[in-house]
Amino acid sequence: MTSCFSAQTLVFPPRFHRRGSPASPPRKFRRILCSSLSSFTGESNAAPAPSDLVSTKKTKGQRWSQTFCDILDDAVDRHFTRYPLHPSVDPALLLVGNFAPVDELPPTPCPIVRGSIPECLRGGAYIRNGPNPRQHPRGPYHLFDGDGMLHSLLLPGGGADASHAVLCSRYSRTSSPVVSRSFSLRGVHGIARLVLGMLRFLAERMNRTEGMGPANTSVSFFWNNIFVLGETDQPFTVYLSPEDGDLLSTERRDLGGKLVKGGSVHHKQDPVTGELFAVNYSLVPPFLTYYCFDSSGNEKLEVPIASVLQPSIFHDFAVTKHYAIFPETQLVMDPLGMAFCDGSFIRCDTRKTSRVGVLSRYAASGSEITWFDVPGFNPLHICNAWEEGDDGGVVVLVGSSSVNLQHFVERMELGHGHIEMVRIDLKTRIVTRTLLSVMSLGFGGVNPAYQGRKSRYAYAAISDFPPKIQGVAKLDLEVAAQRRDCVVVRREFGPGCFCGESFFVPRGEGKDLDEDDGYLLTFVQDENEEKSKFVVMDAKSPELEVIAEVELPRRVPYGFHGVFVSQSDLKRQQKR
Ligand SMILES: [Fe+2]
Repeated sequence: MTSCFSAQTLVFPPRFHRRGSPASPPRKFRRILCSSLSSFTGESNAAPAPSDLVSTKKTKGQRWSQTFCDILDDAVDRHFTRYPLHPSVDPALLLVGNFAPVDELPPTPCPIVRGSIPECLRGGAYIRNGPNPRQHPRGPYHLFDGDGMLHSLLLPGGGADASHAVLCSRYSRTSSPVVSRSFSLRGVHGIARLVLGMLRFLAERMNRTEGMGPANTSVSFFWNNIFVLGETDQPFTVYLSPEDGDLLSTERRDLGGKLVKGGSVHHKQDPVTGELFAVNYSLVPPFLTYYCFDSSGNEKLEVPIASVLQPSIFHDFAVTKHYAIFPETQLVMDPLGMAFCDGSFIRCDTRKTSRVGVLSRYAASGSEITWFDVPGFNPLHICNAWEEGDDGGVVVLVGSSSVNLQHFVERMELGHGHIEMVRIDLKTRIVTRTLLSVMSLGFGGVNPAYQGRKSRYAYAAISDFPPKIQGVAKLDLEVAAQRRDCVVVRREFGPGCFCGESFFVPRGEGKDLDEDDGYLLTFVQDENEEKSKFVVMDAKSPELEVIAEVELPRRVPYGFHGVFVSQSDLKRQQKR
């Protein structure tokens, strides 16, 4: 990692001159040639290849190929990039404060400075994924783009080591940083980078099983493995050592050989049957494919859904007892707009009507799906869904819908969200919508034991200042029937303090436990003190009381989704 990344404020190295800089043509040429040849000689001033990076040992042919690609890369940067950069893709504006990347961190002890870790969390680990670019972006960079880094906190398991947790930060082991120095999919520059990335992949003769995606979005535990998920590539597995808390990337997985194109990062696991459900959305038909796997990982269903007529983003979906539910939002993939209108690869199609598709959970064909128009309903995340009525004829969907979806990519600070409940009567086709709170809320989850079943409580991120999150809100969904604001309690961390998505962990297993009897886990950044901490909140308490706090040895950048893996699940991991 270059030194410019270790500082809070990015400093552009001399090689990253912008168009119009006073460098003379001969100096420009020398710089391009030297920087390109340096990669051949191994003296690159870009980030040195970390020990776990794939393809670090190159043949002579591969080094020449890399040099050739570096020359093309500089040419792309020089001739296809429009300066000044759009603010949404300017790394000088984006990679600052706690969005700036950090180096890897080996397992490091962290003191528990407040309270004690609850019994159900002991010996388990909270793991959170997020973008953390290895190299300084050479051109446009979006906050969704960086290489995935996992931050794991192994909690004490009792006994002599009960006084401290262990923090570890590791990159996912993918070829992403090798094939691309900058990957923002916007305009002609984005296309040129994409082509160049493919060229690098081919020229350096990388093992296709290593993948190109940044794997930076979510992390999940199923089939006795920790899976790292990104939408542009297959999942990766990692192994978290229960002994020392270190993270080891293990292999790229394709979920039964089917998810070869990546897909949704929000797979659903039935808490009763153990079945896993996934979707893949694609730039080419079929634009949406639905999968079902049994609890052992064997594929049961692969259902292409031909009635999706344009390439759309299906970031999340839901599965109830009898149905799979697919919200088709106005967020679409637009390669032509990217090529000819200097637009983003992902954009909001305001002419499109949002709709929700309901398909039998074990449908034999995608033609069985029924679509219901729900104009303006653009949920990027689903809190939960279930069925109501004597015959299960009403589907209820609770999700965080983006209010200003047209700003989702380019003006994230305007991208407010609201939690909505949508009820779909499958017989009468009547759709009713209820706004659950006036607060700006995003993400959203429930007690995992209630996934796909009726749940009373949901937990959502408070996002008055997107993309930052200043706290968590607890919603009582039953209040919706009384036409009252469903937020019953909120926990914020004070001025200048921001957190991540809060993950709910039940206090234990058993039917005698209340649904909200458990804990909310998240990382918190105090931007005033530039310090990070891990907090445990009591989800049942009247004020979401913080009952335990772990002081972290260095900051944890803001990121996306996390998961808690219990001590017993850590022991069940398959170390490949
Ligand atoms: Fe997500």
